[in-house]
Amino acid sequence: MTETIDLPVETAAEPQNAAPRRKLFIKSYGCQMNAYDAQKMTDLLAPAGFDETQTLDDADLVILNTCHIRERAAEKIFSELGKVREVKDARRAGGLATQVVVAGCVAQAGGGEIVRRQKAVDLVVGPQNYHRLPELLRRAEAMPVIDTEFPVEDKFDFLVTPPRRVTQARGVAAFVTVQEGCDKFCTFCVVPYTRGAEVSRPVEKIVAEVADLAAAGVREITLLGQNVNAYHGEGPDGRVWSLAKLCARLAEVPGIARLRYTTSHPNDMDGDLIAAHRDLPALMPYLHLPVQSGADAILSRMNRKHDRAAYRDIVRRLRDACPDIALSSDFIVGFPGESDADFAATLDLVQEVTFASAFSFKYSPRPGTPGAEMDEQVPEAVKVARLAALQELLDAQRLAFNRSLVGRTLAVLFEKKGRHVGQIAGRSPYLQPVQVEAPEALIGRILPVEITGLASNSLFGRLMPEETQRL
Ligand code: 5AD
Ligand code: SF4
Repeated sequence: MTETIDLPVETAAEPQNAAPRRKLFIKSYGCQMNAYDAQKMTDLLAPAGFDETQTLDDADLVILNTCHIRERAAEKIFSELGKVREVKDARRAGGLATQVVVAGCVAQAGGGEIVRRQKAVDLVVGPQNYHRLPELLRRAEAMPVIDTEFPVEDKFDFLVTPPRRVTQARGVAAFVTVQEGCDKFCTFCVVPYTRGAEVSRPVEKIVAEVADLAAAGVREITLLGQNVNAYHGEGPDGRVWSLAKLCARLAEVPGIARLRYTTSHPNDMDGDLIAAHRDLPALMPYLHLPVQSGADAILSRMNRKHDRAAYRDIVRRLRDACPDIALSSDFIVGFPGESDADFAATLDLVQEVTFASAFSFKYSPRPGTPGAEMDEQVPEAVKVARLAALQELLDAQRLAFNRSLVGRTLAVLFEKKGRHVGQIAGRSPYLQPVQVEAPEALIGRILPVEITGLASNSLFGRLMPEETQRL
């Protein structure tokens, strides 16, 4: 069901020189799943007559694919919409119509409020409904439309496979959503409300999408899900398949050399998945495993359903299975009730586990989540100080990890031209960008590179001689 709300419509003149095709400007915020959704929207709109443009002023259709995870991300959308409105007004003065769409998680959470706050918006569409975009856009020509109901149909059944040249232009590493939504209800998090309940795509549909990507030259797939390791999709045998089993199947797709998955919950790191890190060479030895806090009292208030000891135990089992594995994580500081001792426990856990990389955030109370209603909210100044201390430690660990790679030989998947002429850029197994002097013809290949140096966020390396290129 969709809601059509009764607001005066800003009428815009028809384009003077009605071109056969129109231009789409799409901007994505937030997580990788949003980036994937933005690609899918672009693919869906291509048969409807839209070509992508990078220039807002040229766009007949503007889509902001939004993120609601923290207040700042959500508020940014309204300042962006202010700019979009100016462009829309200027284009209208020149006789050009512009449709403005708010998609993604702010759309899901905000619904009709968004149109009330910013009248330039023609359509608000939630993350589960964007397969209806062509039809919704037609309806929105007459009056603003809000579509945030969770639909009965599966949007993945309506998505369009892009032409091979489009996939090729997107590069040799691709995202594929395999699972969406979340049933965990961590008390800080909006995701269960914006993305709905956990749903897993059937194995065969994922295999078909991956095979299409591989046929276009994709070598590395990152499987996406808000709770990706809770994947439980229907297999071709009619049984429920786990993520480990799905990974093993995808590793058989010709051309696919590397697999990754994100984001995982510690409680869903089952024995099979841990064993896959030992047994499946395609599975990269790099895992994003958010812990959020190192203090049991805070983990409990966050409703994470595991304690510090359980996290350490999973890390130990992962390292036993795959000694090369490196970890990344997410942390929240200043969750309600977090004492100095609780925060010290987080620093202590970081010291103990050691992370190759991490994201850390100040707690941002989100309307409608239990955390926002909790007592003992932490003052902003305390959050700022804790975030700085945590980031200092995490940065030092990232640097130490990068340094430890100098002198080692890593398999690098070459993805694109490098920063300087004569260089190409790839990714290490640990996702670091690696710059190497080598010919562009090697893009798409995975080759051994000796790491020779570091910059702040990337590595430099030297292609190993021919006889060692067995990877
Ligand atoms: N405040 C701060 N950080 C948050 N995250 C999720 N919700 C919030 C919030 N309300 C962080 C978590 C999560 C990552 C994607 O964003 O660390 O793992
Ligand atoms: Fe942001 Fe979460 Fe929505 Fe991704 S799923 S866009 S991180 S709110």
